[in-house]
Amino acid sequence: MAVTLAFDVYGTLIDTHGVVSKLREFIGDNAQRFSQTWREKQLEYSFRRGLMQNYAPFSMCTVHALDYTCQYYETLLTHDEKQSLLNLYSHLPAFLDAKEGLKTLQNESFRCFAFSNGLKNNVETVLKNAQLRQYFQDVISVDDLKSFKPNPGVYSHFLRQAGSTGAESWLISSNSFDVLGAISAGMKAAWLKRASSAILDPWGIEPTLTIADLRDLCSSIRQFK
Ligand code: LAC
Repeated sequence: MAVTLAFDVYGTLIDTHGVVSKLREFIGDNAQRFSQTWREKQLEYSFRRGLMQNYAPFSMCTVHALDYTCQYYETLLTHDEKQSLLNLYSHLPAFLDAKEGLKTLQNESFRCFAFSNGLKNNVETVLKNAQLRQYFQDVISVDDLKSFKPNPGVYSHFLRQAGSTGAESWLISSNSFDVLGAISAGMKAAWLKRASSAILDPWGIEPTLTIADLRDLCSSIRQFK
């Protein structure tokens, strides 16, 4: 059976900090820090909603996290400014290594899926706009389960939808919590260490592979087998 790959989307293929240049127009020098807090809060809200069993779409976590971040930095953004930042979420850029890495995997007959906290439609749109959609057989969203990563149920859901098994499937993610979640749920996982300063949560759970560039994924998985 061909190897199945579940690609995390935001932070792995798509750069959530693509909002920084627009943010800079609105708030100047604090744009980078603002973007960091916004992203961290978005994820925290998804974790908390999962634990509280109080599901709302990931896009709602993004909206609430933006409101929080404005209050945290005492930044006044108008409704239109907030809306233009949220609209950018459909037009975030791909990381530079994504296209070439995915193309190689497709040529080598890996079964590639996008697997995200995001709503299926939103993920379809952002991948299409970033010219990455054609590399995936399908987009699988946690929304089907009304829960979020790293609930083990969402990884099982992925395997069922993709028609694969944990032993034959890899999660590919730059998000440490996602890697630990997938390994704990019985999948293999490649941690994409996008920054040399990135830290894998020290829980004693190791990724199957660590890579620094998606263009190395194909050969690294081939060597592993
Ligand atoms: C995703 C989140 C983790 O794309 O960013 O699933």
